[in-house]
Amino acid sequence: MSFDINQIRADFPNLRQEVHGKPLVYLDNAATTHKPQAVIDAVSRFYGEYNANVHRALYQHAAEATEAYEAVRDKVANLINAGDRRSIVFTGGTTESINLVAYAWARKNLGPGDEILVTEMEHHSNLVPWQLVARDTGATLRCIPIKTDGTLDLDDSDKYFTSRTKLVAFTHQSNVFGTINPAKEIIELAHAVGAVTVVDAAQSVPHLPVDVTDLDCDFLAFSGHKMLGPTGVGVLYGKPELLESMSPFFGGGEMIQTVTMEKSTWNELPWKFEAGTPKIAQVIGLGAAIDYLNEIGYEAIGEYEKKLTDYTLERLAAVEGMSIHGQAAKRGPVISFNLADVHPHDLAQFLDMEGVAIRAGHHCAQPIMQRLGVPATSRASMYIYNTSEEIDRLVQSIENTRRFMTGN
Ligand SMILES: Cc1ncc(COP(=O)(O)O)c(C=O)c1O
Repeated sequence: MSFDINQIRADFPNLRQEVHGKPLVYLDNAATTHKPQAVIDAVSRFYGEYNANVHRALYQHAAEATEAYEAVRDKVANLINAGDRRSIVFTGGTTESINLVAYAWARKNLGPGDEILVTEMEHHSNLVPWQLVARDTGATLRCIPIKTDGTLDLDDSDKYFTSRTKLVAFTHQSNVFGTINPAKEIIELAHAVGAVTVVDAAQSVPHLPVDVTDLDCDFLAFSGHKMLGPTGVGVLYGKPELLESMSPFFGGGEMIQTVTMEKSTWNELPWKFEAGTPKIAQVIGLGAAIDYLNEIGYEAIGEYEKKLTDYTLERLAAVEGMSIHGQAAKRGPVISFNLADVHPHDLAQFLDMEGVAIRAGHHCAQPIMQRLGVPATSRASMYIYNTSEEIDRLVQSIENTRRFMTGN
């Protein structure tokens, strides 16, 4: 399918909204994306036409709901090239997926003397769970530093990947710098010392083809809401043999095979990790989002986003007093910046009055802010429906704010 931006924009009702009397320019896609009508319709159709709980009942609508829910597991497996549908666990999102690994794998397998390796560019969701694991198991948390250009400093990898390293958890694409990390290389380094790998793919799966078989990662996590799908649903991919070796994280309905008053046995993969009524509507919505992305194709998405990112970088760099953080050659459509003498929160509020939605804050990555020596940054993040005209409005609004705040 050719990339028809007008057709794509027409699919997103939210893009027709006005904010403070101005057409909305939505540039906070790294936080969450808008949903195409197809996703909204899929969720609405489930509730309106065949609402039922899955897996349990024997009537028509329960069978339809189960079929729709389980079909999405195959779509997810295809999307990330997981050879085995049992390796796809539906969770509430990236954060829950990572915590599942932290509780069900790391707490059982790590102890004093072991090391957990993360990077300095992690989202708190891929840092705090490991801090908690380290606290509870006596393992040590270590970190690969970042260079000033917003890439990882892997030059002295021997220093970080050692025989003590038991788990390596890292972000595939930074939600602050946009940097795409060399995932395959990091996984190879980790496997060479016998460590298990966890890839935080919250920012990569929405934008890049991610192939878990090629990467050979042990676990990989992402969220539906950052890739056109509903909130409240995410995925944990895990190698089946690892998932098999793990005890359940949550206990309850669905995840059991037999229960007596004394003990229980567990359901097969992946249901062993899906306790209780699952996120049925959300999973069905995620399936529609995957269909939508597949129809456009990652190649077209990548090409379009690269052009738009290059254009945004060029336009922003020309603004007086502008500092852009991160110059990675391989990057996604996320740009963090600071404008001299204007606090990011003031900038975001001024831009909001112009109908332009950007993010200001620490982006759940406070260690990066500490490294940059700033309390916060502004962040514009794009997706398939943004246009160069919207970037012009962003830049014009930044210029207007700068003049108003600095008087020149
Ligand atoms: C890199 C990264 N990891 C993890 C998360 C957490 O995702 P969620 O809040 O959907 O669990 C985010 C969300 O911003 C993110 O950008």
